[in-house]
Amino acid sequence: MNITEYIKKIPKAELHLHIEGSFEPELMFEIAQRNQVKIPYQSVEEVKKAYQFSCLQDFLDIYYAGASVLLYEKDFYDLTMAYFAHCAEENVVHTEIMFDPQTHTKRGVSFETVIKGIQKAREDAKEKYGISSLLIMSYLRHLSEEDAFETLEQSLPYKHLIKAVGLDSSEKGNPPSKFEKVFEASIKEGYVPVAHAGEEGPAEYIWEALDLLKIARIDHGNNCLTDKVLVKRLVDEKIALTVCPLSNLELKVVDDLKDHPLKKMLNLGLKATINSDDPAYFGGYMNANFLQTAEALDLTKEDIKTLVKNSFEYSLLSDDEKQKYL
Ligand code: ADE
Ligand code: ZN
Repeated sequence: MNITEYIKKIPKAELHLHIEGSFEPELMFEIAQRNQVKIPYQSVEEVKKAYQFSCLQDFLDIYYAGASVLLYEKDFYDLTMAYFAHCAEENVVHTEIMFDPQTHTKRGVSFETVIKGIQKAREDAKEKYGISSLLIMSYLRHLSEEDAFETLEQSLPYKHLIKAVGLDSSEKGNPPSKFEKVFEASIKEGYVPVAHAGEEGPAEYIWEALDLLKIARIDHGNNCLTDKVLVKRLVDEKIALTVCPLSNLELKVVDDLKDHPLKKMLNLGLKATINSDDPAYFGGYMNANFLQTAEALDLTKEDIKTLVKNSFEYSLLSDDEKQKYL
């Protein structure tokens, strides 16, 4: 079997996916129309043309604007089911889905509406495709810690449906230390902490995420490579990185996929995984990320095996559940 077939066929886990980032323009238009919400584009082609980003903030502005058409439980259900259909097609058998409640509650959509739509899709995807999933509730770091506390409070009636808390949005200028208290409170409620760190921000933010937020896994983490002591710690403590190659390319974290540090991360003994981040915006789901990265970096089947094994091993499934896949 050649490496392309191998990548397509091997059962995979996705550990870094923003459900709002899986919002394809076709569905965005459909939902905008049915909800009678105006969007500043005339056609799907026009939307796609707008997807040219020079940094994370460029992308976030468009991403939040796109999410503004989501109003009802059915919208969140349709969005999530569309993502699961891609998973089924690409042999993604387990996925850890991030959602940003504040992107919606700030617009007057209730927490309940968001989570009920997503939850119904999770149940249906389990039934229809056999895909397992869990939820990571992500706090928006450009907002205040007080705001995150409000979100934590709103989540409590649905605690049984949520596995973890995350930290995303504009990284520079919003260090993990800003959210130390709300992460402490989230851990007390039983949520597993993870956070975006070192995507655009410095290695220092990764140290903070480890020491102050007590995170179990790092989203992105690219900039750990600027700090040898940090790399050693991540290797020694087996803190996995959820790396997103096509996202890194589109947001200019790397200039060329050939310069992507994924292979270097593996060679250093870092527990890297491949993920899609925001596939509707960055030109590809899991298989596209694997295929294009394998091609650019000359990854071997052994490398692919390691990446896929890491994705299950460093998932937030229980040890018993992991055994099914390892
Ligand atoms: N929200 C959605 N995608 C993100 C990313 N790549 N970094 C930070 N926040 C995000
Ligand atoms: Zn992300």
